[in-house]
Amino acid sequence: MAITARSTSNKKLAYPRPRIVGAKTEVPLFDGRHLRYVNLDSAASTPPMTKVSKAVEEFLPWYSSVHRGAGYKSRLSTHLYEHARDVVMHFVGAAPSTHVVVFVRNTTEALNLLAHRIMLEPGELVLTTRLEHHSNLLPWYRCSHELVELTPDGRIDLSDLEYRLQKYQGKVRLVTLSAASNVTGLLSDIRSAARLAHTYGALIAVDAAQILPHRALKMGALNDPERIDMLAFSGHKLYAPYGVGALVVPASLFADGEPMLVGGGTVCLVTSSGISWATGPDLEEAGSPNVIGVVALAAALEELMRFGMNRVAEHERELTKYAVHRLQDIPGLTLYGPSWEPVLADCEDRLGVFSFNLAGRSYVEVASVLANEWGVGVRSGCFCAHLYVAHLLGISESDSSEARERLIAGLPVELPGMVRASIGLANTKDDIDHLASGLLAIARGDIRATYVKTASGDLEPIDSTRPFETHGEAFL
Ligand SMILES: Cc1ncc(COP(=O)(O)O)c(C=O)c1O
Repeated sequence: MAITARSTSNKKLAYPRPRIVGAKTEVPLFDGRHLRYVNLDSAASTPPMTKVSKAVEEFLPWYSSVHRGAGYKSRLSTHLYEHARDVVMHFVGAAPSTHVVVFVRNTTEALNLLAHRIMLEPGELVLTTRLEHHSNLLPWYRCSHELVELTPDGRIDLSDLEYRLQKYQGKVRLVTLSAASNVTGLLSDIRSAARLAHTYGALIAVDAAQILPHRALKMGALNDPERIDMLAFSGHKLYAPYGVGALVVPASLFADGEPMLVGGGTVCLVTSSGISWATGPDLEEAGSPNVIGVVALAAALEELMRFGMNRVAEHERELTKYAVHRLQDIPGLTLYGPSWEPVLADCEDRLGVFSFNLAGRSYVEVASVLANEWGVGVRSGCFCAHLYVAHLLGISESDSSEARERLIAGLPVELPGMVRASIGLANTKDDIDHLASGLLAIARGDIRATYVKTASGDLEPIDSTRPFETHGEAFL
């Protein structure tokens, strides 16, 4: 009998890279041509995985109300909803015996909820940092807080964190920081920050919105000095765009107290004279939850785990190195953040998030030309991180305050900003090459359309027609 190559091979085939819905979608350019959309905006939202859309499609015929329904579909929906909490726990290395997963809409809601839950005693405060996305900054502006400073090159200054922890001797209740920046992709040293926080009796919360789609991150056991106590993230940055995020916290945090939103599902008993509140995640999941979003999130996390987060990281490290090489060759391009030289060697401290400006071109113009002439999707502006962007651009506190005064007075202000290209699991070197070609053309002044400013401050090709009406009836 002939021995086939198949029967002799005992090599296990690696699980294939997750497929993405719309990976080959073409978009119209200003001149009527169409090009494959090159999505370099994963730091904002990732495209959906095919597995996620399939899970939702298969679930829809079974969809029903969760928690309170007696029917089969309700019980199945409830089962899947509760099972998703275990999937999240597994993904972030938390244990159902010690932690709870609260489903929310997104990271922003998760951090607002945390700010509501952390009820400070008089004299206590929260430490956050100047690198944060506004979602991990503004909720803390509402309570007693201080900002941990940055090093001149744009890292969180851990010696300043220690200085503040020492200064307040046990009064810092919470240290909260991003595990990865949405502006520079820089990974924070959260383990050292956690060790410091715990040494001084503080808890540590991590905004994991940017890191979770790109690197494995485990919260750790409750007695681990480098553990993460609370973690927040969004499904739409994890290939599951159905409006669900999560806050993972030690169960003790949800053992009592009043919820942020009150209503159905948050109580054990209501009488005309009072309320007995529920405990656990129910306490903070008022109203009918987004069960479809939760099913989608679980499907995305399962798929990422099957593929392996180490392989995600490997793929993206390669691409990041490649992108830095290509971007460095663009004349007049300034790439922001701590030196990118080490990234070319090992890429250990950075995700593939590239914020830059092109000499002589506004960030709005660069983003618009990339979109309208190259079919590339990037973001431009301050990326909801005004303090960090100001730091990276060298804008002083007094200049920022002056701009704020002008805004309050209703006067026009030209806000500074950057262009941001960010990669994800679905990107390839071709995408980076296409971006580089677009940027090279812009850098040498090869801009084909004439642009006009829109009311919202964007730039649009002067003679472009809005082709959105040509889309299918299903969504227009
Ligand atoms: C680091 C970081 N934190 C928080 C958020 C807020 O996420 P969401 O808009 O899903 O609430 C973002 C979004 O870009 C982010 O990058």
